[in-house]
Amino acid sequence: MKYYITTPIFYPNSSPHIGTAYTTVAADALARYQRLRGKDVYFLTGTDENAQKILRTAEALNVDPHVYVDGIVERFQSLWQQLDITNDDFIRTTEERHHVVVKEIFTRLYEQGDIYKAEYKGWYCTPCETFWTESKLVDGKCPNPDCGREPELLKEESYFFRLSKYQDVLLRHIRENPDFIQPASRRNEMIRFIENGLEDLSVSRTTLKWGIQVPFDPQHYVYVWLDALINYISALGYPEGEKYKKYWPADVHLMGKDIVRFHSVIWPIILLAMDIPLPKVVYGHGWFLSREGGKISKSRGNVQDSFELIRRYGSDAIRYFLLRELAAGSDGIYSEDNLVERFNSDLANDLGNFISRSLAMIVKYRQGVLPQPVQDSPLEQEIRALSAQVRENVQERMESFDPAGALEQVWRFVARCNKYVDETEPWNLAKDQNSAGRLDTVLYTFAECIRILGIFCAPFMPGLPPKLWSLLNCGPELLKWEDSSRWNILAVGSTVQKGQPIFPRIDIAKLTELEGEDVMENLPADQAAPIVETETAAAQPAETAAEVFEPFKEEIEMEDFAKLDLRVAKVLQAEKVAKTDKLLKLEVEIAGETRTIVAGIAQHYAPEDLLNRRIVIVANLKPAKLRGIVSHGMILAASYGDKLEALTLDKDIPGGARVK
Ligand code: MSP
Repeated sequence: MKYYITTPIFYPNSSPHIGTAYTTVAADALARYQRLRGKDVYFLTGTDENAQKILRTAEALNVDPHVYVDGIVERFQSLWQQLDITNDDFIRTTEERHHVVVKEIFTRLYEQGDIYKAEYKGWYCTPCETFWTESKLVDGKCPNPDCGREPELLKEESYFFRLSKYQDVLLRHIRENPDFIQPASRRNEMIRFIENGLEDLSVSRTTLKWGIQVPFDPQHYVYVWLDALINYISALGYPEGEKYKKYWPADVHLMGKDIVRFHSVIWPIILLAMDIPLPKVVYGHGWFLSREGGKISKSRGNVQDSFELIRRYGSDAIRYFLLRELAAGSDGIYSEDNLVERFNSDLANDLGNFISRSLAMIVKYRQGVLPQPVQDSPLEQEIRALSAQVRENVQERMESFDPAGALEQVWRFVARCNKYVDETEPWNLAKDQNSAGRLDTVLYTFAECIRILGIFCAPFMPGLPPKLWSLLNCGPELLKWEDSSRWNILAVGSTVQKGQPIFPRIDIAKLTELEGEDVMENLPADQAAPIVETETAAAQPAETAAEVFEPFKEEIEMEDFAKLDLRVAKVLQAEKVAKTDKLLKLEVEIAGETRTIVAGIAQHYAPEDLLNRRIVIVANLKPAKLRGIVSHGMILAASYGDKLEALTLDKDIPGGARVK
């Protein structure tokens, strides 16, 4: 009955942003859901403070690194509070309780020969806090597609962790436990990565004096990832703490796809070497990308102040947007207009409207007193059956770490409630005395639907249920998960109120007008533009021979061409996109990263024709949504009349190689 859930511990080198907030909000929704299901939940988050980049940032700003970090950690804690995050603990890796455990583990690994001393010669990317061998660099730059910055050359004495020794046992564990790394695309990616061979990892540095010292060799500081991963057990008081005994192993480590590799290689190997059970699930979700392209991140300068966003829209709305927008396993696009659009359609229109109009009718036709339901019809039976079905489906989605899928289910119920109002036409029933019993049933059902929606929404928008209870003149006793598919719970004869609209529509033009310059500056330039749903059209059949060759385009400068980031990509998975005959959804690998690309080539290629082929893609094209799927790049293909052939490679160039 226990459930231990964690977020990554965040680098406090800059304030948290809306992208960082996603994982914590998603973990909170899962934690709240599991608590509602009666589990004894432990939810951990925190900050990763021993990273070299923190020291570098503080030095650049000429502030004491401890003082600098304390200030940012406060921002994280305050953001989590404002987003109604219910973490049970907040670990800071500068805390003594963490240092003790890291030192103990490092020493034991050394004593049993899993850590040894040698010389490290290679590259280190400080922004990514990652060691790279020469062969992995791309044009001398960090190969992380989201970074590309210049690494530093290191040549120093270092301690190494024998990852290679555990390669086979790790692979076996991953194969025997298909749920260990999720979703499946990340699991496959990790299996391929490990199969390519694990090299021993440098796990200490001598150049910067920051972090945790190696206890038996204090010149050395523990590599930040080895230190950071241990937070998941140091926070529980490993090895003797009561919490450790109760909650370990974790039920899920939730994180962005960027750090799944650390959690599926280094972390399990530390645990295997220490003879500690492995976490049950490592789940890597997608990223929030900006409309302009690229991950939302501080270093790209495309982040918005999350505190300002909460002030403007409220925590529930931000939570709803983040949770609904990132479909399981995919990336999502964040923009403020996207947020406002979702707010207006899903919260103001669908949910808010149902609540207001149904309560208004109970007040208008029965002075707010809940009538005794008498005459059931198939419509009420249908709604009851749907509540049970939605409950089951939400459960299934939440067990699969998919809050977006769960919310989609809840909105099926919201849509059904609105349809029920239209079908029953209470305004007509009210005109006819003979329909009084029927109207009683309908109005009572409205109130029950509101009660049920409060339960369904509770894990995602925790501010909503108390508002609904006060309208229904009830309290937290209504919040029982099992009651989301039970009926006739509200007391007949109790009174309800109309209240103010819970999610009043947002008029973005008014908002900017009211708040003046300040807000205008914060809004993205493309504020009013709708989300573009473009479809990469497959080549159209040519009408006449003269049109077969497309006309040449105007000359461009070399620098225009150089803007294109063309890369080799290996096709890992391909499938048709539902309800279109043109589009294929491809999962491709470039430089160890898996991307989704939607391409208009389904009339020319069966999905299986492309499997394991190496194609050429434009890697730096702004992401676009095609049929609800975010496509992160475009494939190159030659077209001639109605023929089309994707550019493929037939020698052995790996995914990620540049095409120039
Ligand atoms: N400190 C390491 C994690 C150590 S865990 C033992 C780290 N920190 S981080 O501050 O860079 O945070 C990374 C995490 O923030 C991602 O894994 C993801 O959970 C979240 N996100 C950061 N930007 C994000 C988006 N744009 N979109 C979605 N999640 C994002 O890596």
